[in-house]
Amino acid sequence: MQKEKHLELNRQWWKEGIVYQIYPRSFQDTSGNGIGDLRGIIKRLDYIKSLGVDIIWLNPVYESPNDDNGYDISDYRSIMKEFGTMADFDELLAGMKERGLRLVMDLVVNHSSDEHRWFQESRKSRANPYRDYYHWWPAEKGIPPKRWSFFDVESNAWKYDQQTDAYYLHCFSVKQPDLKWENPKLREEIYDLMRFWFDKGVDGFRMDVISFISKDTDFPKLPEKYNGEFIPFYANGPKLHDYLLEMNQKVLSQYDVMTVGEAPGVHIDEALQFVNEDRNELNMFFHFDLMSLDRETGETFMMQKEPWKLTEFKKIHSDWDGVFANKGWGSMYLNNHDFPRSVSRWGNDSKTHWYNSATMLQTFLLTMRGTPYFYYGEEIGMTNIKFETLSDYRDINTINRAETIRQQGGNLEAFIENEKDASRDNARTPMQWDSSENAGFSVENPWISVNGNCREGINVAAQEADTHSVLNYFRKMVQLRKSHLTLIYGEYQLLLPENEQVYAYTRSLEKECYLILLSFSEDRATVHFDEMSGTQAKLLISNDDANTRVDNGTFEVRPYQAMVYKLF
Ligand code: GLC
Repeated sequence: MQKEKHLELNRQWWKEGIVYQIYPRSFQDTSGNGIGDLRGIIKRLDYIKSLGVDIIWLNPVYESPNDDNGYDISDYRSIMKEFGTMADFDELLAGMKERGLRLVMDLVVNHSSDEHRWFQESRKSRANPYRDYYHWWPAEKGIPPKRWSFFDVESNAWKYDQQTDAYYLHCFSVKQPDLKWENPKLREEIYDLMRFWFDKGVDGFRMDVISFISKDTDFPKLPEKYNGEFIPFYANGPKLHDYLLEMNQKVLSQYDVMTVGEAPGVHIDEALQFVNEDRNELNMFFHFDLMSLDRETGETFMMQKEPWKLTEFKKIHSDWDGVFANKGWGSMYLNNHDFPRSVSRWGNDSKTHWYNSATMLQTFLLTMRGTPYFYYGEEIGMTNIKFETLSDYRDINTINRAETIRQQGGNLEAFIENEKDASRDNARTPMQWDSSENAGFSVENPWISVNGNCREGINVAAQEADTHSVLNYFRKMVQLRKSHLTLIYGEYQLLLPENEQVYAYTRSLEKECYLILLSFSEDRATVHFDEMSGTQAKLLISNDDANTRVDNGTFEVRPYQAMVYKLF
């Protein structure tokens, strides 16, 4: 433990803020159609404020045929009818500003919907002025070289379009054609629509698969090393940084906004190219190293593999913290709308361990360097739903992959088992506001089933009333982070890297130092730190009543216990 380490803080609101991500479809329905809406978010603004979070990230709310729940946008400047109107949006934004909350929107510009006017024009004729807004491969050149698609039943990213006898590229579903960033006119359109939202007062963008936007438009044959690992191949195209730099110069630098890129395929060595302040590209990005820890790589990225190890979990976070120690800034997340619920994946959602796990994971995010991102329901410990049958699923990813397996005569049963842990719908079930039939989400049948454990204490109303709830622990822990600059900016140092039960680290800044102990185990553990003998450690918070320090340097840690000590 180093004493008196001086760091240059370079303070920013988006470094000190805590983000709360809302999947609008599942948050709160007020119109009675079983689908969440903007008025629902307005209704819950006081609740969100009461959490102590600062920034709301909204998944896409734009006009969309909803092939991929809003990630297929048909009009970037209007609001999806199911979610409300632009007047509702303006009211939401005003309500947020009144409460001192900031708004980050989703920017989905690797692709649009095939129902976007640009694509409707583009497919009309080879001479259409919008032709070059998308990637087309004329059929007379033969079948285009293989490209992999996430949501295509045949995993084929090229779709033949008879009207102009050509194929178009879609790395996601057939209804999500990839936009051609190589065309400067298209880039100007995107910059314009960004300005449109910034001029309204929006505070930033989360940029969907931003690492994929630049392509080698010759579409060469996949290299030998490709071997099914398409993500690194799609990421980091030849002009990616030119585009991000241009976007920054022309738009981002003109506003006080934050940016966080979704960056699958971006390797740790490349991180600073995106977020080094001196380069003026993005503020933060989401890496995928943790999200792939328990997954097969390659085309079956979504398939579970052997259980993960805590030592690997620590290594990922320590390595990434190291990259941003002096330059750039990290983003910390354990789940989102694309990945299962954190308590079920990284903790233990059994009745015995659920409370400690959920609060321990909150403690982790709130004591690491890097902006913490929480996903709606994480504050009350929402868990995976584990659907039994395919007909329960709504996600194009699960539905189309099941169809692929069926067509190929594969093992559908095994896939359904896999999806109980891995599917994106685990994280998309309605917010659990109370213990009523639809959990207070809607008076109608929700678009996707509610998790029945809303009747077993996993709901806001029950937890509001209980001072020892996951929700109230979250509020306390949020305040702890916000009142200790060291927990935000302080240097991170990993202790006990080889321990498979306890994640231990310190955070230190100038004269202050905190010790964080987190158990990721169902068994008790004992840990010892020689260097701590003789220090007057003071327990600031624990999710377990037992104070387990046995002597100066030894701690007994209970299953999934979290503790934050002030060392000096
Ligand atoms: C991103 C989104 C995901 C979406 C995909 C295609 O990964 O997070 O939900 O399906 O991009 O837009």
